[in-house]
Amino acid sequence: MALQESTTPDIYQTYFEPTVYLNYFKMGQSPVGDECLNFLLKHYHSIFKSGGLKGKLLIDIGSGPSIYQLLSACECFEEIIATDYTDKNRLELEKWLKKIPGAFDWSPVVKHACELEGDRDKWAEKEERLRRTVRQVLKCDVHKEQPLEPAVLPLADCVLSSLCLEAACLTEEAFRAALRHLRTLLRPRGHLVLGGTFGSNFFMVGDKKFPCLPLKEKLVCEALLASGFTIEKLETTTRMAETLSDKDSNYTGLFVFVAQRND
Ligand SMILES: C[S@@+](CC[C@H](N)C(=O)[O-])C[C@H]1O[C@@H](n2cnc3c(N)ncnc32)[C@H](O)[C@@H]1O
Repeated sequence: MALQESTTPDIYQTYFEPTVYLNYFKMGQSPVGDECLNFLLKHYHSIFKSGGLKGKLLIDIGSGPSIYQLLSACECFEEIIATDYTDKNRLELEKWLKKIPGAFDWSPVVKHACELEGDRDKWAEKEERLRRTVRQVLKCDVHKEQPLEPAVLPLADCVLSSLCLEAACLTEEAFRAALRHLRTLLRPRGHLVLGGTFGSNFFMVGDKKFPCLPLKEKLVCEALLASGFTIEKLETTTRMAETLSDKDSNYTGLFVFVAQRND
């Protein structure tokens, strides 16, 4: 079933099934899931754990039911606030945080992240650290000028968003506006870490086809600069030929940007 925002405004709240989406993160079972995980874990590790980005508060925007994006960051920030637009995603994430039976088993992914940090055996310790560090799971909407309202939070040292904006924003204008909205959550000189896909106009969650904004490097760079950021780092990769037969998404590449809020 192909979903369109014009006919079904609340497609995420209505159709996004977190337990089905999480199949992407069963390592070895989804070529595109594996490719995204390998690329994003590697670069989040090099940005946070070995790259020195650290501080008091990190806000993750559009966490979905996922935690992989926080595995390196939880070593470098005192507090993390996870967020998502849908009730079901926030509940699924809480289920893992509270160790409720039936929660997704992230341990293979956590072990992989620990391996990048040099000690695969520390995975259980890392899971506990992440559970302690994530203090809240809040509702967010990147289309709002204040994406977390009515919550009132201190300005963050870092805002992270992984595989979210190209799914949440279906026009270039909405994408640019979302970056301006995320900027309001950051302290001056704070960092935005943005991971995502280039060139994708859909991804599947089971039999539901979610539309995406096919981002290009030039568009993201221009939008970041226009929103008051300085780009400090950009990592990209082209989609591997081996994953092209996987029809779950048609992205052409992956990226991670690190950008600093100017003032
Ligand atoms: C492809 S998923 C990515 C989830 C997670 N960050 C990850 O990497 O697995 C896209 C996410 O964007 C969220 N989303 C959709 N519309 C949104 C909005 N207006 N504001 C914030 N998040 C939104 C969805 O609920 C979903 O969790």
